Amino acid sequence: MLMADVALFPEQASTIAPSVDHIYCFIIGTTVAVSSVVAILVIYFAIKYRRRSEAPPKPIVGSLLLESLWSGIPLLIVLVMFVWAARVYFEIVTPPQDAIDVFVVGRQWMWTVQHRDGQREKNEMHVPVGKPVKITLASEDVIHSFFVPDFRVKQDAVPGRYTHMWFEATKPGRYRLYCAEYCGTEHSKMIGWIVVQDPAEHEEWLSSRADLSMAQRGRQLFLRFQCVTCHSGDSQAKAPNLEGLYNRPVRLRDGTDVPAANDDYFRESILNPPAKVVAGYEPIMPTYQGIVTEEELLQLVAFIRALRPGETPPRNEQSTAPQSDPKAREPKPFQQK
Ligand code: CUA
Repeated sequence: MLMADVALFPEQASTIAPSVDHIYCFIIGTTVAVSSVVAILVIYFAIKYRRRSEAPPKPIVGSLLLESLWSGIPLLIVLVMFVWAARVYFEIVTPPQDAIDVFVVGRQWMWTVQHRDGQREKNEMHVPVGKPVKITLASEDVIHSFFVPDFRVKQDAVPGRYTHMWFEATKPGRYRLYCAEYCGTEHSKMIGWIVVQDPAEHEEWLSSRADLSMAQRGRQLFLRFQCVTCHSGDSQAKAPNLEGLYNRPVRLRDGTDVPAANDDYFRESILNPPAKVVAGYEPIMPTYQGIVTEEELLQLVAFIRALRPGETPPRNEQSTAPQSDPKAREPKPFQQK
């Protein structure tokens, strides 16, 4: 078999993949080099200093130069590894500003994917080539781990919080998606595909699957759960106005501040309302723990994020968004593949 046939690494299909592999090669190379030197010296010294007479050998008292070298050189090597890997790590954990948002919920035992414009998928994620994609991960039950070996990215989906990851695919194709955290009996079946498409093809795919956007679904939920009764946006409201609140600082009842009302803040406020009560309001909101799913939470947050001044729906509005096609009012059942 030719060496070229041996797949030592998975395919490099993201912008970060070569950087990760370079570090990996450096670490493997260093390990092989150091181990070889040690192994060769062990054999060499074993032969050279084998017992040949009863006369005791002269003891070695020590050498400052030698000791400095064998401490200094390894220190330098591991510092190179540390600084280099840290730089790549920061690149991996910092999504670019212009990244496309995709939302993923892990549950026993599948991945559900939502795009901003409402397209939903199961165990599959369609993304365009050459564009950064930021993934917000949530879990409905236990810890899962979103792992795409060809992209060299892996991130846990942790119950009770949002985690993030990003990648930019470099070539169209289908790439394996795995769950990389043992999550129960069917963990090994929690697999899927990342489908990387040409931008034009991706646009076409998006428009062919267009549906109510996440924000529109969130608006329906906002009415269905009666959030609007208190978050009515007017001056007599019993709860804070949510218009234009996303990413803005919030002063709390206890005098502390939330620096930015982000996804995690809204998620917590829906599931555990007494945790961070806004200044000037009473802790009267009931919890929605066990009532909303993680997918619905993402939709509610998308709605709040898109909510501009004056856009809070009127209290008496039907719990469906206005749509010309009555069939389009109900969210479509999840498509089985
Ligand atoms: Cu989900 Cu393993």
